[in-house]
Amino acid sequence: MQKRKIEALEQDVSAIGLGCMGMSEFYGTSDDAQSLDTLEFAFENGINFFDTADMYGTGHNEELLAKFIKGKREQLVMGTKFGIVRKPDAYERTVDNSPAYIKQACEASLKRLGTDYIDLYYCHRRNQDTPIEEMMEALAGLVKAGKIKGIGLSEVTAETLRRAHAVHPVSVIQSEYSLWSRVAEDDVLPTCRELGVTFVAYSPLGRGFLSGKIPNINALEAGDFRRFNPRFSEEALKQNFALAEQLKEVAEQKKATEAQLALAWLLAKHDNVVPIPGTRNKDRLLENIGAADVMLTAEDIAALDQIFTPDKVIGARYPDNGVVGIETPV
Ligand SMILES: NC(=O)c1ccc[n+]([C@@H]2O[C@H](COP(=O)([O-])OP(=O)(O)OC[C@H]3O[C@@H](n4cnc5c(N)ncnc54)[C@H](OP(=O)(O)O)[C@@H]3O)[C@@H](O)[C@H]2O)c1
Repeated sequence: MQKRKIEALEQDVSAIGLGCMGMSEFYGTSDDAQSLDTLEFAFENGINFFDTADMYGTGHNEELLAKFIKGKREQLVMGTKFGIVRKPDAYERTVDNSPAYIKQACEASLKRLGTDYIDLYYCHRRNQDTPIEEMMEALAGLVKAGKIKGIGLSEVTAETLRRAHAVHPVSVIQSEYSLWSRVAEDDVLPTCRELGVTFVAYSPLGRGFLSGKIPNINALEAGDFRRFNPRFSEEALKQNFALAEQLKEVAEQKKATEAQLALAWLLAKHDNVVPIPGTRNKDRLLENIGAADVMLTAEDIAALDQIFTPDKVIGARYPDNGVVGIETPV
């Protein structure tokens, strides 16, 4: 697997990481034994970059990763996140960025992960009651104490990134970025480039939509988060499927799958972007890894850019009760 560098940490990571969220919730039921098998398989196949958060399954995801990282901690680069506060099984959330909360959340994540350091510690969502400078001071304290190596921010504006970076170097921004979610292209990606901040692209497969494998909304389990995501509403899907059809045509020309093309587009467009597609399935994992070998020309990239211009994509990225703490347009 090709590598990309997290410049701020001089740390190499696999060009494609693995998002672990779906192993605990949001995309239907999961099975721990299968998830652990997939994690091992990812590692054997060259992935060393894993993403989790304290709120995925209210701690379940970090505890699952603890089992996987045992014995190979030093060989992995792991990111986790703080800031979203939810009751078990409730989607509704509040956000806490206070220094006292951060300290306590970090200790809790370290304990659940069974490790004494976190490579990348992200602010998952922003609460404006805590000025960004105050939050960064608290995170800088964790770096100094050796509890975390690098600081990450999720779904923040370029302005917040600049203010944060002035207090302590930000290693990574992790925000939604894919063919059908292009907000980051406006000013966050250029600012990352300018400041030497690596961009971790979450939901790079459009939460599965870009793979072309979701035939309709009824194919999703009853509790699946996408059932109440506006972009997946029956009405929105009708129009969005037309875009997916065009993606399929290009994929056929390139002898790749749609999922591979969606990931290859991110890799070809930016050398400082690391996508973290999520899957619980070994075959899909191999397919996603294969995206690193799909070569796209400037013409291919431009054609894909055009299929999914933001005005053609229907529906918001999040339901109303999910936007709290997201600074970028939804
Ligand atoms: N910072 C944030 O606020 C934030 C928000 C969301 C996500 N994230 C992180 O980003 C990671 C990735 O995002 P995501 O999981 O939301 O979305 P994603 O990677 O765009 O898509 C994941 C979905 O696509 C399916 N899938 C994966 N590979 C596939 C393939 N080759 N063919 C068909 N379907 C495929 C998965 O199902 P199966 O599991 O059944 O394969 C899953 O339902 C998460 O795991 C999480 O770590 C961060």
